[in-house]
Amino acid sequence: MTEPAAVGFAIPSASPFAGIRDAKAPPPADRPSPNQGLLYVEGVGKYYGDRIGCKDVSFDLWPGEVLAIVGESGSGKSTLLNLVCGRMVPTSGKVRYRESSGDLFDVHKLPEASRRRLLRTEWGYVHQNPRDGLRMRVSAGGNIGERLMACGSRHYGNIRKTGVSWLDRVEIDADRIDDVPVSYSGGMQQRLQIARNLVSAPRLVFMDEPTGGLDVSVQARLLDLIRTLVREMGLSVVLVTHDLAVARLLAHRLMVMRRGEVVESGLADQVLDDPRHEYTQLLVSSVLQG
Ligand SMILES: Nc1ncnc2c1ncn2[C@@H]1O[C@H](COP(=O)(O)OP(=O)(O)O)[C@@H](O)[C@H]1O
Ligand SMILES: [Mg+2]
Repeated sequence: MTEPAAVGFAIPSASPFAGIRDAKAPPPADRPSPNQGLLYVEGVGKYYGDRIGCKDVSFDLWPGEVLAIVGESGSGKSTLLNLVCGRMVPTSGKVRYRESSGDLFDVHKLPEASRRRLLRTEWGYVHQNPRDGLRMRVSAGGNIGERLMACGSRHYGNIRKTGVSWLDRVEIDADRIDDVPVSYSGGMQQRLQIARNLVSAPRLVFMDEPTGGLDVSVQARLLDLIRTLVREMGLSVVLVTHDLAVARLLAHRLMVMRRGEVVESGLADQVLDDPRHEYTQLLVSSVLQG
């Protein structure tokens, strides 16, 4: 077998993302203090019976950081994301999160009600399929308002006003506010899901292939929108994607997974420009050969 060439990864000019270039949020300043991290993932693993979901994964996430988990289908990305946000219980390892109060706690030792509360307030979770993240038979305004109410809003007029302004932010016409998401296109549904998640100004957002399953032109526009919001709101994000162009555009740091294990990690631009592991080199060069 010939060695894959270690070539620089550029977004090919034919790519729908080629026009999106300069707006990535700057990486947060160097990690100033060891006790200001938002998320500490330590040796996390999950087996499905005998099958490895993911194995011995560790990373930290700092406020304002965007971390992309990349790898081909079946490499364990979604398993890892589910473990990190507490939707799934790990076979080994632990995940700690620093709450807005400053206290660190073990995500898997939280009572279920508290974890669900986190997911409705300080955290967001953007699913690949908007059906999994929206209430499809509740109006768009209701989808956004529900999250505001979970955060304590009670005033109908304010909730409505915030709903309108968020629809505008995600480029949905305000006159669609009373329509149900089933009447929306896939791209609109995904933008609504993002509005529903971000309206509470979460500190940490999980995204699993947020632009997957959409037409490429729709993907590019959505990606641009996500990037703008992440920058403006200074969000911390753990993003799963099989698409290196998406990782390049959004992430400060990158973790490459293969068969459940992390094979390479580092600053996104560095890993993509100068991949060290053979598997990363293969991923990067296959994008270029497209
Ligand atoms: N619920 C499950 N039961 C059994 N095996 C699973 C389950 N979910 C995922 N797996 C297996 O775990 C591995 C990692 O899957 P997954 O985390 O979905 O990868 P990715 O998101 O990178 O495509 C794969 O081998 C997959 O078949
Ligand atoms: Mg997946």
